[in-house]
Amino acid sequence: MASAFNLKKENGIATLTFDLAGEKVNKLSAPVLIELDALLDDLAKQTDIKLLVIQSAKKGIFIAGADIEEIKDLRAIPDAEAKVKRGQDVLGKIEKLPYPSIAVINGACMGGGTELVLCCTYRAAIDTPKTLIALPEVNLGIFPGFGGTQRLPKLIGLVQALTIITSGKTVNALKAEKIGLVDTAIPEGYIDEQLPQFISNIVAGKVKRKDRSSTIERVGLGRAYIYKKTREQVLKGTKGHYPAPEKAVDVIEKTYRVTSLETGLKIEREEFAKLAVTDLSKNLIQVFFTSEALKKDTGVSGKVELKEIKNAALLGAGVMGGGIAWAFTNKDISIRMKDVDWDAIGVGYKHVAEVWQALKKIGKIRDTEIDNKMNKLSGTLDFSGFDNADIVVEAIVENMDVKHKVLAETETHIESDAILASNTSSLSITKLSAPLKRPEKFIGMHFFNPVNRMPLVEVIPGEKTDDATIASTFALAKKLGKTPIKVGDCAGFLVNRILLPYMNEAVLMLEENASIEKIDKVMYKFGLPMGPFTLADEVGIDVCYKVAKILKDAYGDRVKLSELLRVIYEDKKLLGKKAKKGFYIHNGKEKTLNTEISGTGTNDLPDQEIIDRCILIMVNEAAMCLQEGIIEKPEYLDMAMIMGTGFPPFRGGLCRYADAVGIPHVVARLTEFESKYGVRFKPAKLLTEMAKSGGKFYK
Ligand code: NAI
Repeated sequence: MASAFNLKKENGIATLTFDLAGEKVNKLSAPVLIELDALLDDLAKQTDIKLLVIQSAKKGIFIAGADIEEIKDLRAIPDAEAKVKRGQDVLGKIEKLPYPSIAVINGACMGGGTELVLCCTYRAAIDTPKTLIALPEVNLGIFPGFGGTQRLPKLIGLVQALTIITSGKTVNALKAEKIGLVDTAIPEGYIDEQLPQFISNIVAGKVKRKDRSSTIERVGLGRAYIYKKTREQVLKGTKGHYPAPEKAVDVIEKTYRVTSLETGLKIEREEFAKLAVTDLSKNLIQVFFTSEALKKDTGVSGKVELKEIKNAALLGAGVMGGGIAWAFTNKDISIRMKDVDWDAIGVGYKHVAEVWQALKKIGKIRDTEIDNKMNKLSGTLDFSGFDNADIVVEAIVENMDVKHKVLAETETHIESDAILASNTSSLSITKLSAPLKRPEKFIGMHFFNPVNRMPLVEVIPGEKTDDATIASTFALAKKLGKTPIKVGDCAGFLVNRILLPYMNEAVLMLEENASIEKIDKVMYKFGLPMGPFTLADEVGIDVCYKVAKILKDAYGDRVKLSELLRVIYEDKKLLGKKAKKGFYIHNGKEKTLNTEISGTGTNDLPDQEIIDRCILIMVNEAAMCLQEGIIEKPEYLDMAMIMGTGFPPFRGGLCRYADAVGIPHVVARLTEFESKYGVRFKPAKLLTEMAKSGGKFYK
């Protein structure tokens, strides 16, 4: 039995404080609902109460939502329906109290929490950065099931409600007040005066609420138009892969201004239950849990003293250097860029400024703030100021000899406890550290391009890197707003090692006269953000070829480097989008097939063959990374691929996908491809073992 609530009564005002024992956040778990149910039954009988106040004792959190652990295990539709009905029934009792109720939202109010406050008669939000209100269920492959689809449109109007429910986005206190989601937003410093005043206004019947419905939604045809537009908007984002927001629109269309609340709730829970039991929802829930686990991961097992990063320096202000410099300015950390000439430094400055300007265009930052951010940036051609740096990030040309020379020299200009990190995408961290006097302070910190958009940072310790350096690099990556994942020091590290065989395989199919456009289309339909040829053009064919070559050199016969890829890069010198010509000819946003290399395209490979060759070659490499200990667990590997390559979250990641299609099937298919196409498809030991023992990546 949960001990979750305290109830106090004073002068006819009852105050119910949610303070779930032993937890940092309040959750509407099954035991909590039992306690709340009994309390509400009791409260309903009390005749000396004029008003009920519901608040939270947790700092920065009102209610985090329903307990996702409980949703995770739901597999049968009737169980899911019963579970959600329980929530609807209990929260509905707040609405039925014989006196008004008010929720005082001081902190995050998510999912079921928002549905609870919708059952209150009034809502006050305390205006702090922590007060964010949302119905983020669609991110988990479901939609609000505790009455959210029923009560929100009535309160704030159809268009706003559809936006909040289908996007899952948060609303702050001021916006919530503006759209009518709360009746008042109270500045934090004025709670003591304004809250009692608001409460006495309610008791005196002085708080009025205006009708937020629009004229257009009051007629059936108008609503039909709104639903159509919303569906179009939703499809733009989901590409048809995520059914939950569309289902939410269906439910609202069937119920809003059409049915009674009771019937509406029934329809809501029936549709909710169908989604809650799907693999897709389970995959998204797993992704959520893994990202929560990664937030807590420090990169090391014990406790170590962290080096705080106040000042940074950077070697190389090119494509990656510019992006990395922006990431530091974004978090107001000074960063000093060193390059070979002032023109190169200028390129770095321009890159950082361009990202800020793009953010200004969408209203994310103002000019004065940009000035402050740009002031964090400085440039140098020598090592002046490097003695002040807590970390130096190296992002110069990908060449072992050049990096050796530059890193060794840099080490003589920095403090002995400063961290030296390399953004190399392929060179061994242990080998790079060979000429260093302090290899324990040297580490791989691999950002992804474009740095301002890609959330992943692979952190690669060398053989001698110490724990303090690992943990400090993890902490820094998090401070920069990134998700660090620790990976082993092997060719390609994790993401590139897995991704490149896929791109190479696509070019091998092209060598067999398969169609570029068809392969791109099939893989896009599978859920990848773009097909392999479009991706190669985006990344740069030079980058792809060089990494593929490094993998070939490291893994030998296991990699069959496409001869065509070599020809395209070395002989034809095609670079991809940056030079307007690659597998496609690029003209602004338009692209057409480059017939110079597209071949006949007459080999009409079946869709499934394309998917299996592309995806299973990655699954195989993923299994090898796990068996070699390059990454700690399948959950982390899947997140790295989702964040580093845009692998579709609804599929849960590569390992999760392999589990879903069945490991024996994966092995059978790889074996078939091995005999047809060669040793690169030889199933990894881990896969064959799992197939034999009935094992899976996810336990
Ligand atoms: P880039 O060619 O755009 O920039 C390299 C910069 O380093 C140039 O400005 C160059 O003038 C400068 N430089 C060369 N020698 C130098 C020296 N001795 N001292 C200071 N600056 C020097 O290269 P890019 O693409 O930014 O790559 C840099 C590093 O990042 C490489 O190790 C690469 O493998 C890695 N990387 C690249 C990614 C990409 O998508 N381009 C992704 C992730 C990592």
